[in-house]
Amino acid sequence: MWAGQCSSCGVWNSLVEVVVSSKKKGALSAGKQSIKIQKLSEVDVSSKGRTKVGISEFDRTLGGGLVGGQVVLLAGEPGIGKSTLLLQVAGQMVVKSDHPVLYASGEESPVQIKNRATRLGITGERVQIVPETNVDVLLEAITNQYSLVIIDSIQTLSTQDLSGAAGSIGQVRESAFRLTQKAKRAGVPLVIVGQITKGGSIAGPKTLEHIVDTVLYLEGDKFHSFRLLKVNKNRFGDASEVGVFEMGEQGMMGVANPSDRFLSQRQNDASGSVVTVLLEGSRPVLLEIQALTAKTVFGYPRRTASGFSNNRLLLLLAVLEKHAGLDFSNSDVYLNVAAGFKINDPSADLAVCLALASSLTNKVVDSKIAVFGEVGLSGEIRSVSQEGRRVKEAQRMGYSDVITPDKYRNIRSVIGNLK
Ligand code: TYD
Ligand code: MG
Repeated sequence: MWAGQCSSCGVWNSLVEVVVSSKKKGALSAGKQSIKIQKLSEVDVSSKGRTKVGISEFDRTLGGGLVGGQVVLLAGEPGIGKSTLLLQVAGQMVVKSDHPVLYASGEESPVQIKNRATRLGITGERVQIVPETNVDVLLEAITNQYSLVIIDSIQTLSTQDLSGAAGSIGQVRESAFRLTQKAKRAGVPLVIVGQITKGGSIAGPKTLEHIVDTVLYLEGDKFHSFRLLKVNKNRFGDASEVGVFEMGEQGMMGVANPSDRFLSQRQNDASGSVVTVLLEGSRPVLLEIQALTAKTVFGYPRRTASGFSNNRLLLLLAVLEKHAGLDFSNSDVYLNVAAGFKINDPSADLAVCLALASSLTNKVVDSKIAVFGEVGLSGEIRSVSQEGRRVKEAQRMGYSDVITPDKYRNIRSVIGNLK
């Protein structure tokens, strides 16, 4: 019987289809199932059993490579580069290992995958493609003869044990659960692609996060080439790692020195341009913040931010007006984070304030200065996490003067230093 509304609480679309098992689960009897207890001091922490894929930014994000039986969810918006990255991973994995890679694709036809592989320079001798969407058929194919199994994507799979369409919460959850169990039994690493969709009709990656071992998010701005591979959860490694890629003609290329790449197009000695040091995961990264103020020609002044919260921009403008004596009331204000980055770290506040002040007063911030710090409502500058590492990265990149929260007490004294 189909039901769209819960008869108990009256909420629509809150019911999820599940498989009813007729098998009774017997109680665990002692002896049959032996429980393994070990001393904390004897836990093996060596990286034995980890397979490096050979794409260094990918391996770094995973904490050194894939572990047998590890289940990884790779989530991201459509078109961000998930299939491209995984095809490259498959191409590298067969070079490293004698075993083939199984690439199950319900999203694209083998011809499309072949075309992409040719463009990426992957011959694919031992990359095996299967255009299957029935999860139970796929389960048969997953054996330990593979060095890696890739599922692209979980939203295309379904089991006949449930009547819901592929992509519904019930199907996505059940398919992922069955695949995970099979991968664990076979000891094969499994990477599952999860599409992030704006509408609610397809179950998103959030429904799977608790089932898998590792959750990776591929993020970036579609109109820029940089992509960040972020870890959301990792049972086999550090969850603060970040991989940086650049999408180009040859697919996703690792960016070993992100600060250098992000600042490569910076124009020195331009007013409104300030370099800040952000923390992406555990990695300090230098980025350029740009501000432009222009005389308001008609009516209400505009405030527009790209890559930065509009509300935070309004707040910082108010702080500058009240505590630094700057008047933006007749100026349109535009703020931009270069390279298509999105900042949600308050440590960029000070750089944003300096960029705004620099553009308004037409004074240049010396191109060898890097700035970070949070700005509070009373104009005070607050300390942020990992200051030492941020300073080190700035110095490594040749920024001789780093303005840190401990050097200045309030926003007025920093801005007073503009020349
Ligand atoms: P894709 O991997 O298909 O994204 P997803 O699987 O996350 O939906 O990436 C698609 C985009 O990447 C597409 O717009 C074309 C672009 N692209 C490149 O820029 N360079 C390349 O070498 C490849 C293969 C794709
Ligand atoms: Mg894809």
